[in-house]
Formats: sequence, structure tokens, C-alpha cells
Amino acid sequence: MGLPKVSVSADQRLFFALWPDPQTRDKLVAIQRATQAPSGVALHPDDLHLTLAFLGQVSSAQSAGVKAVADAMRPTTINLSIDHLGHWPQPRVIWAGPTQVPPALTELVAALWGGLEACGFQPETRPYRPHITLYRKAKALLSAATPRPLVWQPVDFVLACSLSGPGLPRYKVLQRWPLKISGSQG
Ligand code: 2AM
Repeated sequence: MGLPKVSVSADQRLFFALWPDPQTRDKLVAIQRATQAPSGVALHPDDLHLTLAFLGQVSSAQSAGVKAVADAMRPTTINLSIDHLGHWPQPRVIWAGPTQVPPALTELVAALWGGLEACGFQPETRPYRPHITLYRKAKALLSAATPRPLVWQPVDFVLACSLSGPGLPRYKVLQRWPLKISGSQG
């Protein structure tokens, strides 16, 4: 089962991300539920993701270029170990992420930005901090320990959009590009 593939037709807030398969999503929800957060609003299970590159508002004229950038990516294998929780007081988010950032992830993000910059998009000036937001409006986190590391080898990366409405933003996957699956978790 997957979200319907829709075309990018008008201005949309777009980002590239790793979206968990159902099994990984359920494990992330277990981590979310076990998180000792005294306050905060949990993201919907279907919205849990790890952003690769946030583009912001993209016009329909720009969207073909964005997709061409993704088409040009060489599929690599990314092995993630989600083993750490964190709290950012300013955006008030609690997140899960990898202590060790796999070089293949850094390389994919850099390759995406190489193409995106050529299309006129500006990368974040802040260093890339891969994370999966679990809670928004969270004042604190009581323990940074995850129950056990979550090993995740994503099968693809996606282009997604933010859907505005009441409450937390919701997200929709628009298109997927394959990554390389490997038996090795190293
Ligand atoms: P966040 O979960 O930490 O807010 C869609 O908004 C996705 O892009 C989210 O994963 C969000 O991260 C991420 N993102 C990265 N940079 C952003 C920015 N400048 N504004 C909004 N979202 C951003």
C-alpha cells in the first residue's frame, strides 16, 4: 500500500526525504511512544521521515528541474542506525537520529544540492543534521536513550510536499527514486 503518486502542478513546499517502509515506520512509532517527553504533539505515523534537502516553495515551472536532479542521482546504499534522541528548544522538536552519519547519506545530500544549486535553489547555511522529528511543541526531553538502535536501510528516496491545514503540517509523497539494497549492514 502506498500514497498515490500525484504530479507537481502548482507552487508547493517541497523537500527530498527518506520515508520509512511500514515496518520501519512501526519501529519509529514504538520509539516515539517510548520517548519520555513531558509535553509535545506527536507526528502522525505516516508523516515520520528524514529530510535530505528542504527546497521551500517550488513553482510548477521549477518542478521539472527538481525531478531531473533526482533522476540524475546514482543509487547508493544507505545504512542508518537510529540510536539517539534529541531536543531542539527553539523549534521545540524532539527528534530521533543517527549518532554516526553514514558517508553515503552525506554524499547523496551533497549530490542533490549540487544539482539543486544549479537550478537556483539555495542550500541551508546551517550544517546538515539528519533527524526524524517525533514531536513538535515539545518543551523538554527527559532521556536521550532509544530503546534499541533502529537499523534502517531505505529502499528509496522521495520528493514530498507539505500540506497546510489546521494543526501540525501533514506531508504527501509525490515521487520515489530507488536506492541500492545491499545484504551488508556495514
Ligand atoms: P523538521 O521536521 O525539523 O521541521 C518539511 O518541512 C521537512 O523539511 C521537515 O522535515 C523539516 O524539518 C524540514 N526542514 C528543513 N529545513 C526547513 C526549513 N528551513 N523550513 C521548514 N522545514 C524545514
